[in-house]
Amino acid sequence: MVMACFFRRAIAEQVSRLVDVPSEKILHHIHAIPASRKRSSNDFQLHLRSLLGDAGNYEEKVQNLAHKLVSDSVVNEFGLSRGVLTFKVHRPLLVEKVVAKIRQDGARYGFNSALLSDFTKGLALVEYSSPNIAKKFHVGHLRSTIIGNFIANLKAAAGNEVIRVNYLGDWGLQFGLLGAGFSRFGCEEKLQSNALQHLFEVYVKVNEAAEKDEEMKRSAREFMRELESGNPQAISLWTHFRGLSIEEYAKVYKRLGVQFDEYSGESFYREKSQDILNLLRSENILQITKDGKGVVDLKENGDMPVYATVMRSDGTTLYLTRDIAAAIDRMEKYNFDKMVYVTDKSQEAHFQNLFKILKKLGKDANRCHHVMFGRVKGMQTRKGEVVFLEDVLDEARARMLHNMAKAGTSKATEDPVDTAEKIGIAALIIQDFKGPLQADYRFNWDEALQSVGDTGVFLQYTHARLQSLLTMWSTRGEEDFNVSCLQEPSAIATLQHLLRYDEVIYKSLKELQPKYLVAYLMGLGHLANVAHHSLQVKGSTPEVAHARLHFFNTIRVVLASGMQLLGITPVDKM
Ligand code: ARG
Repeated sequence: MVMACFFRRAIAEQVSRLVDVPSEKILHHIHAIPASRKRSSNDFQLHLRSLLGDAGNYEEKVQNLAHKLVSDSVVNEFGLSRGVLTFKVHRPLLVEKVVAKIRQDGARYGFNSALLSDFTKGLALVEYSSPNIAKKFHVGHLRSTIIGNFIANLKAAAGNEVIRVNYLGDWGLQFGLLGAGFSRFGCEEKLQSNALQHLFEVYVKVNEAAEKDEEMKRSAREFMRELESGNPQAISLWTHFRGLSIEEYAKVYKRLGVQFDEYSGESFYREKSQDILNLLRSENILQITKDGKGVVDLKENGDMPVYATVMRSDGTTLYLTRDIAAAIDRMEKYNFDKMVYVTDKSQEAHFQNLFKILKKLGKDANRCHHVMFGRVKGMQTRKGEVVFLEDVLDEARARMLHNMAKAGTSKATEDPVDTAEKIGIAALIIQDFKGPLQADYRFNWDEALQSVGDTGVFLQYTHARLQSLLTMWSTRGEEDFNVSCLQEPSAIATLQHLLRYDEVIYKSLKELQPKYLVAYLMGLGHLANVAHHSLQVKGSTPEVAHARLHFFNTIRVVLASGMQLLGITPVDKM
């Protein structure tokens, strides 16, 4: 059942009675006030301008309204400042309701909110990662992988049915080269032991050879033609390369905690993209240029023509053509409500063209979205420039292990390698998710792996600290607690922060940006650490200790579920 935050509901109802606006509508204008050190003690604010209209007597209307508000069993105090109403709820009730709700909802806390009602239904297809077999898995693919995973996690948690698709670059001249050169440069044993690395090595060698040797170039093109025409031997070698590559990818994705429901790829649409050319022809939108290329004019009205190429002069199709085929196929197969493509921003024009062509074909392309991200500069591993995802994960883990050994904490866990892996990945993810996705940023290992400041290490550290505190909790929260034991400012500030969680989820769903959740969790982490110092468990009376443990568990639950949405596995010890 969808319900609103108890407090927002109560406030909306009271205001609704006075202004003759339905409380459902008011609900969306009530915001929890971010807790801050110089915090006013108010909990919520209501911007009325959009509800009462901008007419001249607005100030007067609000004044009148403010005078009519009365404290009740939920709201204790009201205020008015610069046209914004503020509300302070009864302190014992704040403690009771927030802790009870998190106890009840667990990892679903924040997701049962009425605020999210626009986002809870439907089938969403999220396409991400999508590396090119035998080519580099560059940092852009890493970004696509973690961003897509976050979006898929978020949508699934909101209640969507989610299909996770990896659209591999599994067709094209690189396979011609591999097919032509594998017998000379390849080795089946190496292929079996690490397909991705070996295929890349072979690819690089054949490429070099083909630069000098016309014969090699010719046989690569020949192999590609055989593939295109479905020669069984060629196809069987291709299938072999592709299958082993996917197995290898899956292993590395597993380390990252990422999964896919479907590995499709460009190869899958090579035949269907010929059907697309026929469709474009029959709809009279395919034009053939003087040099024999097939193009579609994308101009919307009156302007100069803008052409997108969908067919080479030899009749073969392109990346764009295959994407048209893939999109239409997915519409038919899944009838999705939303489809999200996650790639770097250099593909912006490609997706805009794709969506325009889909519209020209009468398809509803408004349900397709391109989430794009900026470039990462300076990510290097000991091996140099990033070529494989595995190397990035190894580097993060090795550096973290080193830091743990230096800090003397590597003995804190039974499996330091696994712990270092999880912390290292958290560091990568947070470094990447801190800013707006579209911005370019410079990657820095030392910064990412710092244990203080807004890093993934800090979040993991905070989680582990809470978890270790909670080992003292023998009753594990089965019994209720006395709310009057949690009235300290650091407890109240944290609970105020927790009140805002659904708004952060709402914003994240609306904009598909992880930065709001990252900032929120950092804030929660800092509040948790302040509370950790001021609200001692050891040495307190059993009643106070019990209440405080309830409180710390509440923080831990929300911290862990937020981290998981981001794609981080929280560690219990470090
Ligand atoms: N394989 C492509 C690349 O590495 C990304 C594919 C993105 N998805 C798509 N449907 N075009 O650049």
